[in-house]
Amino acid sequence: MSNGLLKGKKGIIFGALNNMSIAWKVAEIAHEQGAEFVLTNAPIALRMGEINELAEKTNSQLIPADATSEEDLANLFTKAQEILGGKLDFVLHSIGMSPNVRKGKHYTDTNYDWYHKTMDISAISLHKTLAVAYKQDAMKDWGSVVALSYIAAQRVFPDYNDMADAKALLESITRNFGYQFGIKNKVRVNTISQSPTMTTAGSGVKGFTEFVSFAEEMSPLGNASAEACANYTVSLFSDLTRYVTMQNLFHDGGFSFTGVSQDVINKYVKE
Ligand SMILES: NC(=O)c1ccc[n+]([C@@H]2O[C@H](COP(=O)([O-])OP(=O)(O)OC[C@H]3O[C@@H](n4cnc5c(N)ncnc54)[C@H](O)[C@@H]3O)[C@@H](O)[C@H]2O)c1
Repeated sequence: MSNGLLKGKKGIIFGALNNMSIAWKVAEIAHEQGAEFVLTNAPIALRMGEINELAEKTNSQLIPADATSEEDLANLFTKAQEILGGKLDFVLHSIGMSPNVRKGKHYTDTNYDWYHKTMDISAISLHKTLAVAYKQDAMKDWGSVVALSYIAAQRVFPDYNDMADAKALLESITRNFGYQFGIKNKVRVNTISQSPTMTTAGSGVKGFTEFVSFAEEMSPLGNASAEACANYTVSLFSDLTRYVTMQNLFHDGGFSFTGVSQDVINKYVKE
């Protein structure tokens, strides 16, 4: 159902890889709500081709950018403003990758070249994106930037590995750049801390399927889906949330504030 929440708004959406991606759902719902945007992903992800279907469906253009490359990002923001005909109202950063997670390196035996890659791709890329937007004066007043995070930034989830450190940094960049961009021209910057969700990035984490079931039983509302996350993201791009900035916003069905649930306790009851 559309009520034109993003009518006339223009933006950039990073991170749609396939139709399970959170960014894919954000693009679909933002389009329904009247937004115009450019889609972007790393050149290798674009070569996989699935994103062409999304571009067609949402009537949007694709610009390749490796989010760790300041040059690619500068080109992306320049071209996006040309294509969309002006400054931007919103940016979605939906990017994550850890070579240590992918290659099964234990947290205590990390490969530091890969650790740097994890930080660069999953956290510093947000700083670079914001810095390019800031220097190009690419965001309209009251614009909104959303990045996706996970509760491993605050609590230990052992298999999340070095991505936990990356999410902690991502949330810190959100606060610190959010301050600077707010002062500059009232641009807000927030992270959404999402429930575990079956996507390509999510299912790369060891024991993910079991963990999704655990989180489902722990959350009074159940796990939030990718579509629900997209709806929340769109609300943060809209004018209804203008004074929310520098926050990490839990979107997890209540998981983050539940110590233990009755469903989980029941598993330990002896007959
Ligand atoms: N799936 C979950 O359980 C979950 C939970 C909380 C937060 N998140 C976060 O949501 C975000 C989106 O992930 P997703 O679950 O939709 O999975 P996904 O695999 O669909 O998306 C990850 C995206 O990052 C992109 N990417 C990787 N390296 C890049 C680079 N160098 N430059 C540009 N893009 C690059 C990938 O191409 C892909 O599109 C990530 O930040 C992830 O950590 C996911």
